[in-house]
Amino acid sequence: MSFTNQEKFADSPRRWALRGDLLDFTAAPRWGDTESAAVRFDRDHWLLIEDGRIVGRQAAEPDETWARRDHAGRLVLPGFIDTHVHCPQLEVIASYGSELLDWLERYTFPAERAFADAARSRAGAEIFLDALLASGTTAAVVFPTVHKVSVEALFDGAAARGMRLVTGKVLMDRHAPDGLRDDVVQAERDCIDMINRFHGRGRNAYAVTVRFAPTSTPAQLAMAGALCRADASLYMQTHVAENRAEVAWVAELFPQARSYLDVYDGAGLLHERSVLAHGIWLDPQDRTVIADRGAQVAHCPSSNLFLGSGLFDWPGAPFKVSLASDVGGGTSLSLPRNMGDAYKVQALRGERLTAWAALHAATRGAAEALRLGDEIGGLSVGQMADICVWDWARGPVAEARDAVARELHERVFAWMTLADERNLAACYVAGRPVA
Ligand code: GUN
Ligand code: ZN
Repeated sequence: MSFTNQEKFADSPRRWALRGDLLDFTAAPRWGDTESAAVRFDRDHWLLIEDGRIVGRQAAEPDETWARRDHAGRLVLPGFIDTHVHCPQLEVIASYGSELLDWLERYTFPAERAFADAARSRAGAEIFLDALLASGTTAAVVFPTVHKVSVEALFDGAAARGMRLVTGKVLMDRHAPDGLRDDVVQAERDCIDMINRFHGRGRNAYAVTVRFAPTSTPAQLAMAGALCRADASLYMQTHVAENRAEVAWVAELFPQARSYLDVYDGAGLLHERSVLAHGIWLDPQDRTVIADRGAQVAHCPSSNLFLGSGLFDWPGAPFKVSLASDVGGGTSLSLPRNMGDAYKVQALRGERLTAWAALHAATRGAAEALRLGDEIGGLSVGQMADICVWDWARGPVAEARDAVARELHERVFAWMTLADERNLAACYVAGRPVA
């Protein structure tokens, strides 16, 4: 471990107050509403933080028993939640020239093989978690690799930072190169061992992690489903219906299934804690099944544009939608950058994504979809103080744009379209400064 809690967070008072323009949500905003009662905006207010939790929010300056961090004139948001991102793929971000299946073979699998080495896994997890925090992401649902050490490194690194993290060993017992395949018996043993050691410890939670249908045998999918059935508090994460060639391959591999999604449903992998990345090429029945099972889709706009995967139908979605970077298919860990891309995806479909829908999907919406709404995703009393402070504008272009914005939505929309990690002024996890 490169640092301990004590070293990194030594300077944080137990009881302190944060000043700024507070923005979060009290409900889900309706699609298309630029004015929404679901938006809670308190200009120049104070958040009171004690022992890592929010204990008050008020207009009045707190008394002198409270230490202060004065960010007057800055935007204060809940830390972002990235519901789908790959730790070992930082090194293949921005790789040229292919669609999903070729991109996996050429770039992704070779990079993931290196994580068999424990030291490489630890170093990779450290860089990755610090990069998330530097982007304003304080909680994440993460793909490591097939290797146990890659999972242990992430859980340990997140615990050292106090972050909320959901991850689990990638299951792959076929159609993957040497060094990246497991087998059903060993994989099950490894999952059970790590569930016992990490799941529900502090802010760590375990996700049964099926890479995608093509890389698991029916026997492995059944094993994964049995793990989910045995403990309803476990998460499940996978990819579904991202790319047309992928969908065609799944149809060949599973001729008896009604659809790609049906492969997962048949194995018992769809439930309230399932996070399905992409979900572009689904039919109406699939979309209803996802909603009926209480699962969510992690929408990955930057990845979908970069890999040419397709345009996600967000406005008609009957299920919960969260926002995700999908780095290294995605080209930025920054969720504001991904919000900007999400707007462009909808624009290509003739739709418009409001700043409220985008921000909600990266905060409260994601938290609720993960059944973690009491803990993260908002700035309410009782929630953990996972908070980011943002400059409304950085640089002359954004400053000029911000200066002429009139309504709140206009201002926040310009922020989400132009901001990136350079706008991040401060980031707190459980009340402690981490970036
Ligand atoms: N489908 C299976 N594996 C992956 C992956 O690593 N990234 C993306 N974007 N899609 C996948
Ligand atoms: Zn992915």
